[in-house]
Amino acid sequence: MKIDKAPVLLTVMLVCAMLIAACSAQPTPIPLPTVIPTQTPIPTPTFAPFVPMDAAAQADALGRGMNFGNMLEAPSEGAWNVTLQESYFDAVKDAGFKTIRLPVRWSAYTSAEPPYTIDPAWFERVDWAVQNALARDLNIVVNVHHYSELMTDTERELPRFQAMWRQIAEHYKDYPANLVFELYNEPNGMSAKRWNEIAAETLEGVRESNPTRNVMLGGTDFNSVNGLLELQLPKDDPHLIATFHYYLPLEFTHQGADWVNGSNAWLGTTWGTGNDKSYIDYDMDRASRWAKENARPLWLGEFGAYRKADMDSRAKWTAYTAREAERHKINWAYWDFAADFAAYDRAENAWIQPLLKALMP
Ligand code: GLC
Repeated sequence: MKIDKAPVLLTVMLVCAMLIAACSAQPTPIPLPTVIPTQTPIPTPTFAPFVPMDAAAQADALGRGMNFGNMLEAPSEGAWNVTLQESYFDAVKDAGFKTIRLPVRWSAYTSAEPPYTIDPAWFERVDWAVQNALARDLNIVVNVHHYSELMTDTERELPRFQAMWRQIAEHYKDYPANLVFELYNEPNGMSAKRWNEIAAETLEGVRESNPTRNVMLGGTDFNSVNGLLELQLPKDDPHLIATFHYYLPLEFTHQGADWVNGSNAWLGTTWGTGNDKSYIDYDMDRASRWAKENARPLWLGEFGAYRKADMDSRAKWTAYTAREAERHKINWAYWDFAADFAAYDRAENAWIQPLLKALMP
């Protein structure tokens, strides 16, 4: 029964995925945006030097995590109504989370022509975020997010993407091991074969300066479980952690999401039957089987339900997904902290209790 419905779900997901991609398409990012928020400087960091960490040990250490979504990956910071604040790091730390995933739209701050220089002011902004996490003993996963031109015009953009990663890797090479890189958020619009090649080539550039830092890599189809099953990681590189995202059923998690065409028709979808749960079991089983067969640690880098779903169902779905992942020894990061899927109420400066309880029982 659940297997029968899988192709329907997949089709819905693919269609929606294409719509999401279409909605987030950006023009070529030149000239460089200048809207980088001013920030309170934090003292020169005195971090421990980089000491390589076993990938499985690192995946274990990530524990429960939180995505700082809609902040540094917005077209410019603040454009999606959330500006990263120092107090957010405290909120996450105090609630007991161990990891922050920091989505970053590097492409908006990188010149369009070779040598594709990343704006130093933007590096300072990301440094500030990374340092705030590390200063609180939080792990931080920094990715490349919403480089939509890379998805739509892959071969043209590839040198720029790889130049970005060379710079990012070089810039952070001396940071401690609890800074983890993630090559690209939700690759889509290309074959799994091409993505596997691109990931391997890009990783070579990262390895020039960071031979043993752990790097996360997810599959195509927006980091879905199906995409994970087609992911091929370079065999000779032990410092990799596989990652996937979970938002199924999309009719529930993305009901009324304004970037998913047609999703208003899903408003009112609830979640919580035994049948609903069996889909999540099935997908977590598939993901974890891939991890075992490929002998790779696995991380659930995003999961969440949009704010327009009813809170009771959101809390149930969130708790069930988190516990199922944990049952399979998969650590996770919730999407998102204080934006569209918020677990934290910025106006009240307080966690939204049903969601916090779902995440941290
Ligand atoms: C992906 C997108 C992000 C979106 C989330 C939920 O991470 O990059 O922008 O909010 O999925 O749809």
